[in-house]
Amino acid sequence: MRASTSATSARPSTGSTVRVSIARSDPASRTEFDVPRIEPMMVLDLLLAIQREQDASLGFRFSCRVGMCGTCTLRMNGRSVLACQTRVTADDDDLRLDPLSGLPVVRDLIVDTTPFFEEWARITPYLVPTTELTEPAVIRPDSSERQVIDPQLDCINCGACYSGCGIADARRDFIGPAALNRALTLIADSRDGARLERLRSVTGDDGAWRCRYIHACTAMCPKGLDPAGAIRKLRRMALEGIPNVDA
Ligand code: FES
Repeated sequence: MRASTSATSARPSTGSTVRVSIARSDPASRTEFDVPRIEPMMVLDLLLAIQREQDASLGFRFSCRVGMCGTCTLRMNGRSVLACQTRVTADDDDLRLDPLSGLPVVRDLIVDTTPFFEEWARITPYLVPTTELTEPAVIRPDSSERQVIDPQLDCINCGACYSGCGIADARRDFIGPAALNRALTLIADSRDGARLERLRSVTGDDGAWRCRYIHACTAMCPKGLDPAGAIRKLRRMALEGIPNVDA
């Protein structure tokens, strides 16, 4: 199917169109759309224009539109991206949109993220305060633990790294890059009372040692985090111990 229509966006059309091929689940096929270009145009703008003007049945997710909720993640030309943060450039004449790989498709571009969040839940992804913690706990911005934690903190659970990881795709019991990255931020935190147990639980055969350093997780992360680097740090801690903690 191919459809074409004029733009009704508040932003004026540039007069040219973008051809978009989108994976559909009912029936399992692809649909092509010609979408009038507006400037600037994000992938999410393009999807909304299709849904509004050409095919109201197109399924996709979004919520915040500012790169914070992670719900709009999909694959554009094979690469995991946030639809709300990815610009359709003047060179993008043909786009191919698919749902995230490695997760069950619910409909069209919508995937079931249950497997991703099941792995996330396995690492106890919240701080377990130490019993001797005195409030307020002061961790200096220039402390060594902050140097480990801060670069890995901005994960929005979009699933791009998990989807891009060939190991997670092949073995469902792999904890996966997002959860391992989160585990590192807690294990490195001196306020956390479950650091040693957490380190042991994420450095088994289904955890950090399963990684093969393909670095797809780091390449896919739309927030610029380095889950592969976090996994490397976890391995080092497993071998050398957590800094300032007696094993
Ligand atoms: S809509 Fe929230 S990250 Fe894109």
